[in-house]
Amino acid sequence: MIEMKDFSFRYASGKRNALNNLNLTIEDGDFVGIIGNSGAGKTTLTYAINGIVPHHYKGDFYGAVTVNGLDTVDSSPEQIAAHVGSVFQDVDAQMVASMVEDELLFGLENFSVPREEIEGRVAEALEQTGISALRHRDLDTLSGGQKQKVAIAAILALRPRIILLDEPTGELDPQSSEQIYSLLARLNREHGTTIIAVEQKIGLLCRYVKKLLVLEKGEVMLHGPVREVLESSGRMEESGIHVPRIVSLHKELSGLGLVHSSAPVSMDEAETMVREALQ
Ligand SMILES: Nc1ncnc2c1ncn2[C@@H]1O[C@H](COP(=O)(O)OP(=O)(O)OP(=O)(O)O)[C@@H](O)[C@H]1O
Ligand SMILES: [Mg+2]
Repeated sequence: MIEMKDFSFRYASGKRNALNNLNLTIEDGDFVGIIGNSGAGKTTLTYAINGIVPHHYKGDFYGAVTVNGLDTVDSSPEQIAAHVGSVFQDVDAQMVASMVEDELLFGLENFSVPREEIEGRVAEALEQTGISALRHRDLDTLSGGQKQKVAIAAILALRPRIILLDEPTGELDPQSSEQIYSLLARLNREHGTTIIAVEQKIGLLCRYVKKLLVLEKGEVMLHGPVREVLESSGRMEESGIHVPRIVSLHKELSGLGLVHSSAPVSMDEAETMVREALQ
């Protein structure tokens, strides 16, 4: 479980708090999508969970953040990494090896995973992300999207209880993006892995996550089950946060009294909504 109590953070060179007075709980087994405008504090929130804030980025830290009971201020990023696997927004900065296989091995050896388990875990993570064929390639020769998959595979191989991803599909085409999210949803469903993903593609997010967390100017604007948050799509649009087109359509149709159901989160539900409106 992740808990933030009266948590604020201001970067040493920051003019205002990047995150301001957050009181937030993320339960074990949750699947949370984080959205918000550029500069809203999404990346900083991921840093506060994996300990990069305040251990790498110094600043004014108020309140408390705990991850599975570890206080992030008192614990090292390495201790926190035993609980949380992170895929960063800048995947290039995350890479430590020059070959795909070594990138996965590095983490496994670092966490002292028993020798006899290593091959199985590498093969499985490569297979899950659909990059088994890239196993012996130099990272330099890969596209941005392929590197993103390597970064995700390297984290999956560690089998952390919490996976934190910052725009993991930024370089991926729609098909690969769906594959990654359906894989994350499967890990969440079958293994109870807690997943926290920052994502620009809100339509994609809504099809997979259980909860949405909307940040605005360092504060939580909305946090709750996807459907509940989408009920406030008007507030999100006023702040310039994109909502899925099917949700805007739902708002218009319900405003006209043509539909009475809650906002759709999938294409099937959108179809049902349109049928209702046309009746
Ligand atoms: N290293 C830093 N030093 C000083 N201020 C920073 C630093 N990194 C981020 N900030 C500031 O903190 C605030 C939150 O930034 P953050 O990167 O968390 O936003 P974000 O929601 O991830 O944005 P984006 O969608 O562009 O990735 C912004 O005002 C940003 O300018
Ligand atoms: Mg960011």
